[in-house]
Amino acid sequence: MTKILVTGGAGFIGSHTTVELQQQGYTVLIADNLSNTNAGVVDNIEKITSIRPLFEKVDLSVQTECAALFERHPDIEGVINFAAHKAVGESVEKPLMYYRNNLCIVLNVLNEMQRRGIKNFVQSSSCTVYGEPDQLPITETAPLKPALAPYGNTKKMVEDILQDCAKQDLVHAIALRYFNPIGAHPSALIGELPNGVPNNLMPFITQTAAGIREQLSVFGNDYNTPDGTCIRDYIHVVDLAKSHVAALRRLLQNEQKAHFETFNIGTGNGFSVLQVIQSFEKMSGRKLNYRIADRREGDIEKIWADTSYSNHELGWHAEQSLDDMTRDAWRWQLHLMES
Ligand code: UFG
Repeated sequence: MTKILVTGGAGFIGSHTTVELQQQGYTVLIADNLSNTNAGVVDNIEKITSIRPLFEKVDLSVQTECAALFERHPDIEGVINFAAHKAVGESVEKPLMYYRNNLCIVLNVLNEMQRRGIKNFVQSSSCTVYGEPDQLPITETAPLKPALAPYGNTKKMVEDILQDCAKQDLVHAIALRYFNPIGAHPSALIGELPNGVPNNLMPFITQTAAGIREQLSVFGNDYNTPDGTCIRDYIHVVDLAKSHVAALRRLLQNEQKAHFETFNIGTGNGFSVLQVIQSFEKMSGRKLNYRIADRREGDIEKIWADTSYSNHELGWHAEQSLDDMTRDAWRWQLHLMES
């Protein structure tokens, strides 16, 4: 059985990816410092797959902890890296914390991989590297724009680090540029656990419908889009998780065209904020309390992916609809309130 280290594997996307990896026969070792999640997630992964992933509470940004982890697990054959701080606003306030954490994790892990001759690395990247697109849908060859926040900059910098290491054949890496992951596992056993007031649209919607938040603010309705609200390419987190299995398989089977590759991971469809709200209301049967508010600083007007390259090269495509996403996000919220 191929053992894969999943850093941040107890988080939102990491937990869903662990499930998909296990279901495809991989042995998963989760390394997570539990800074933004809890160990109960590991139990719930086991409930879904009937296989308990290996779990180590480790802070990989600390070099000695990272080295010791690899020492204890000499049979790791690949790494999928999710461990990172991810709140855009917080990264503006605490840039050093973001640069130190998000970059040190990658440097430490790559260093241990290099020492042991482990090559395969999948990175959790983001469409944020594209900034405001010049052309839609956006392809992987589009020019990258300077990041507006340290968070986005760490994603860009990690891609640069991987590119440079790949040039020297130190690593074989794939960066998956996610669009907007939402939804939850259909079992409602794992999902997003936002810390405090959610920044992102979907958890804010579900918490408002659940009565935890009073009202959703729709940030601007005067954009150059059909209904005036921003457009994003929302993707079901289970579809997103499956793209990691496809990327890993490409690495393990030596199918790469270059030692560093990037792929867009979206559905290829753009939906406005109001369309997401409409889908949510339909699937939950609840009326959402929302109002139109001012634009949020730094928001991109519209972006959606050209997924033809990732579909073709990874043999993967997103299958679930916006209604599937809002339905599963709501089921997860209901589960959270019951537990
Ligand atoms: N929105 C609202 N009200 C809210 C929250 C969001 O109207 O309370 C709107 C935003 O203005 C935006 C859309 O919903 O138009 C989506 O916003 P999210 O915050 O959910 O997602 P973003 O597209 O802003 O951010 C996502 C990721 C970031 C990543 C970024 C790259 O969460 O990690 O994409 O563009 F950096």
